Amino acid sequence: MAIMVHLVSESDGPQFPNTTYSDAYSDDPVTVQGSNSFQLSPPHYPSPWGTGQGGWEAAYEKARAFVSQLTLEEKVNLTTGTGWEMERCVGQTGSIPRLGFRSLCLQDSPVGVRDTDFNTVFPAGVNVAATWDRGLAYARGQAMGAEHRDKGVDMQLGPVAGPLGRTPEGGRNWEGFSPDPYLTGELFAQSIEGIQSSGVMACAKHFIGYEQDHFRLVAEAQGYGFTNVTESVTSNIDDKTMHELYLWPFANAVRSGVAAVMCSYNQINGSYACQNSKALGLLKGELGFQGLVVSDWDGHQGGVSGALAGLDMSMPGDIHFDMKTSYWGSNLTVAVLNGTVPQWRVDDMAVRIMAAYYLVGRENNTVDINFSSWTLDTYGYEYFGTSQGSPNTVVNSHVDVRADHAAIVRQIGSASTVLLKNTNNVLPLTGEEKLTAVIGEDAGSNPLGPNGCTDRGCDNGTLGMAWGSGSANFPYLVTPNTAIQNVVVGNNQAYESITDNYAFDEIAALASRASVAIVFANSDSGEGYIEVDQNFGDRNNLTLWQGADAMIKNVSSVCNNTILVVHSTGPVLLGDYKSNPNITAILWAGVPGQESGNSIADVLYGVVNPGAKLPFTLAAAREDYGTDILYTPNAGIPQVDFKEGVFIDYRGFDHHDIEPVYEFGFGLSYTNFSYSNLQIAKTQAGNYTATTGYTPAAPTYGTVDNDTASYVFPANQTRVRGFIYPWLNSTNLTASADDPHYDLPGFVPEGAQDGSPQPLNPAGGGPGGNPELFDVLYQVTATITNTGKVAGEEIPQLYVSLGGPYDPPVQLRGFERLSIQPNSSTTFTADIMRRDISNWDTVSQNWVISNYTKMVYVGSSSRNLLLNATLPL
Ligand code: NOJ
Repeated sequence: MAIMVHLVSESDGPQFPNTTYSDAYSDDPVTVQGSNSFQLSPPHYPSPWGTGQGGWEAAYEKARAFVSQLTLEEKVNLTTGTGWEMERCVGQTGSIPRLGFRSLCLQDSPVGVRDTDFNTVFPAGVNVAATWDRGLAYARGQAMGAEHRDKGVDMQLGPVAGPLGRTPEGGRNWEGFSPDPYLTGELFAQSIEGIQSSGVMACAKHFIGYEQDHFRLVAEAQGYGFTNVTESVTSNIDDKTMHELYLWPFANAVRSGVAAVMCSYNQINGSYACQNSKALGLLKGELGFQGLVVSDWDGHQGGVSGALAGLDMSMPGDIHFDMKTSYWGSNLTVAVLNGTVPQWRVDDMAVRIMAAYYLVGRENNTVDINFSSWTLDTYGYEYFGTSQGSPNTVVNSHVDVRADHAAIVRQIGSASTVLLKNTNNVLPLTGEEKLTAVIGEDAGSNPLGPNGCTDRGCDNGTLGMAWGSGSANFPYLVTPNTAIQNVVVGNNQAYESITDNYAFDEIAALASRASVAIVFANSDSGEGYIEVDQNFGDRNNLTLWQGADAMIKNVSSVCNNTILVVHSTGPVLLGDYKSNPNITAILWAGVPGQESGNSIADVLYGVVNPGAKLPFTLAAAREDYGTDILYTPNAGIPQVDFKEGVFIDYRGFDHHDIEPVYEFGFGLSYTNFSYSNLQIAKTQAGNYTATTGYTPAAPTYGTVDNDTASYVFPANQTRVRGFIYPWLNSTNLTASADDPHYDLPGFVPEGAQDGSPQPLNPAGGGPGGNPELFDVLYQVTATITNTGKVAGEEIPQLYVSLGGPYDPPVQLRGFERLSIQPNSSTTFTADIMRRDISNWDTVSQNWVISNYTKMVYVGSSSRNLLLNATLPL
């Protein structure tokens, strides 16, 4: 067995240096820390052990009792996957047969159960963001969790808050929510609570700084011809930006009791995420995360280094896909026996895993795994990866887990459709239009079928879902073409559609006769392991796909009632359409899932009054974002410097006074709303106190038998070829480990094995950070009135200005989706917590409220701030 328990890329670096740079757009000097290339990530050892605080008390008690009974190799079995495609789920741990504990099943994905059948395909995260609706985020999470549970899944590998959406071209932004950390944090938390309410573990991913797919994995990059890439891309992020932007939603996740966090492929400041002791220390120390950290698939970089830095579970278990050797498994057993990894660390891994299991009540919710990720056939080999076991095993029971979830999908689809333009109230349509023309490939179906392209890796027909591991198989896909035709035909009117964008003459002829031409266009993206039209996951541009720009020009040149519907994974360039008078309406419908057509028809015909708001900025040009993908490696270890600091999306547009086409938070309704009566009440919350004191010493559970003979592969155990086991090949540890590195000086980072009580983090002390960060300091109310003729939903947004030179002009800190009858008013209420008006202070390593004057704004978008007041100090 090839053993590599070496330490990669963790450096004994200094604290982040102070750097002054000229930022991305201008010569405006902004001082930030540490966003320069080739910097070092500071070490943070020992890795914080779980203490069972913050709602985890009962789960820890059960976990400790369970782990106390385990042998070392049983503990190791919990921590390590059995190998790529060896069992049915996308990842499975070893089992503990002695205690009747089956292997844990980890399964994608963030839009529904992946790689199976008779599951629901939900709208993407970006659509949930566009709803700005906490209740819908929870309902979707609960429904997805139930489907995972009923397929036999223990851990759903979602939701996503990394990527956050630093660059609009980012391939996987649609899996997550919004580039605004507050909006993402709220919906991330609700999704987690929803999933876990169904009795499965949620896995918040990807931690952290995973903002582009290019160069995330060396093998993938090389496969695309970037042969000079030697290590994964490093995201160079300063401490302030880390706290105020990228870490923010993960604090919400931890506060919500998320069971697991997946560390990402990229490096952060030159150290891999899955062994970056600093980043994992933020999570487990400062944020007080009590659950487990699982590696992304193939994101595990080193045996001892990962263990000591705070990784708890290696997935899928092998060093590289299909390699059949592992950094952990027997190597983790060796590392504990030879003393490189202390027993408390492996005990901490096991307790964290079991506590996560008990936290969501898995022991009462276990369903047999009744599907296989690797085939939809009913029968197959028990161990797919090696074609071993009986070939006649039932691997798929085709259990229909959908219940009535289609209704939630349809509802979120319409609730997330943003009405961007509606000249002279052309919408809603009446259904009585004499000839309705629906034009565009994006209105129709994929000729290969809705699941025709593996992991949705193509852009054929309408975009109901984007590509990658974040996909799932459609049970059906209602296209816009079908749904709109149903409405029109139901009203006994005429309907024609053309879904070939290149049929120029036919399109022009139809559009010139139509009473209304509804054109559909899209822009797709996905995960880096699939390339579509030379887009390696990340999009190459922000223009429309399928030749849609020319098609839209064609239609709108002959039809003065052209309605444009866009399906896209993120921002697209719509400036020309906004100013085109023949384009009377524009809607952004995102990535809506299986009920796509019904959702858009509901909005077009006024069954649903649109209330969604943009979860990102739509710009006139890609350069306006000031951030972009690094498409060509600039070094063997590609360096992406997050030089813009916190100024991404609207924060950047506002800071640099760049006019967007449609701003963050914008969205129209079929009615109108007025805003009045802003009130701010200061609460009696006390002052902020830094957390002090010490943790208990690292606990251990049970004893480790030092007789190496008892760890040798048992004679009575059948060995499945390629399976990853915790047992040794030899009683000689050096021979068993075959590792030339482990006794080199400096191999074990200083302090990494120290299990003595450690000082508590001043900014920590509770789930998500210092509990006083969540104290409500102000309660804000405003009156929102529906001044139109129909009932509608409005999303008042609360922004704050913190007033400092390096603060965004405004940042979102509250919102609520309100349903209001015509001529009625409702009170909008938002709490401002201490964290909402604090900045991260890199010197004291804590949050502080600066002395600058702070303002509160309430409005209908980030640029329509109708009410404002100064925050009373
Ligand atoms: C890699 C992806 O980055 C991650 O999101 C996914 O959960 C795993 N593969 C497993 O499929």
